[in-house]
Amino acid sequence: MKRLVAFIDDSLKGRFDALELETIKRALCTELLGVSALSYYTKDELPPSAERDLRLKAALDRLKKGEPLQYVIGSTPFCGLTFRVDSRVLIPRPETAELVEWVANDSGMNGTLLDIGTGSGCIAVSLAHRLAGWRVQGWDISDGALEVARLNNVQNGTNVEFSKVDILNVPEQEYRFDVIVSNPPYVMDSEKAQMEKTVLDYEPHSALFVSDYDPLLFYRAIAVFGKRALNKDGRIYFEINPLKADSMAALLSTEGYHDIELRKDIYGKQRMIKAIL
Ligand SMILES: C[S@@+](CC[C@H](N)C(=O)[O-])C[C@H]1O[C@@H](n2cnc3c(N)ncnc32)[C@H](O)[C@@H]1O
Repeated sequence: MKRLVAFIDDSLKGRFDALELETIKRALCTELLGVSALSYYTKDELPPSAERDLRLKAALDRLKKGEPLQYVIGSTPFCGLTFRVDSRVLIPRPETAELVEWVANDSGMNGTLLDIGTGSGCIAVSLAHRLAGWRVQGWDISDGALEVARLNNVQNGTNVEFSKVDILNVPEQEYRFDVIVSNPPYVMDSEKAQMEKTVLDYEPHSALFVSDYDPLLFYRAIAVFGKRALNKDGRIYFEINPLKADSMAALLSTEGYHDIELRKDIYGKQRMIKAIL
């Protein structure tokens, strides 16, 4: 164990701060290499394994190039569950877990819920896990994301129905939901310059970015769709770009929603909005 940890330390020297390095070491040893947490902390010596050394070296090479730890490990914790992630899906963020918490706390015993732009399925699967009596659906335009979401559904023992739907072109048919939730692409192209290189180089741009010319494109489409798909007193929840909080409240009001409520995330940024139809 000491040898492995020293090898990781040596390979990643100077690239991460002490806290990040500790997280990486623990994740590589326990999640990638399958060492028990006890052995990791007690620094038990492991029998030599060429296969393990090769796997570790490949992971370290990817980290050195700047790939996010979650993609290298292939999974991430979210809302108390574990989600598979790869380059086809956005890595679930802590802010999004706060949105899940808000929706779950507002929801009773049963109902119907749709997650638009589901990605890894983190919102839909976490809510299905929390809200056992609910029928939960998840939509995305990306075949790759839907594949990952379906794996996460099975892995977490939930029963979400995933479908390929373009929210900008929803098929004409009858929809009935009590709740719609979405974390659509919301980072403006002009914000790219301030983003971390690991995000820009590795996470799917189709999940992140919108044009500066119409930053609320997805929100408007979802709010308009909500008017035909939500039951009376149906609720809509979004994760939002803090720079657009006021415009989002105005948009929902213009589209006929009421009881509009903005909430800040743990970092103190206006990150979520809820409204009632
Ligand atoms: C910001 S990611 C959110 C992923 C996940 N819900 C989360 O919170 O981590 C946005 C998702 O919207 C999907 N998306 C982009 N354009 C779409 C469209 N026109 N219709 C449906 N989904 C779309 C992307 O493929 C991506 O998975």
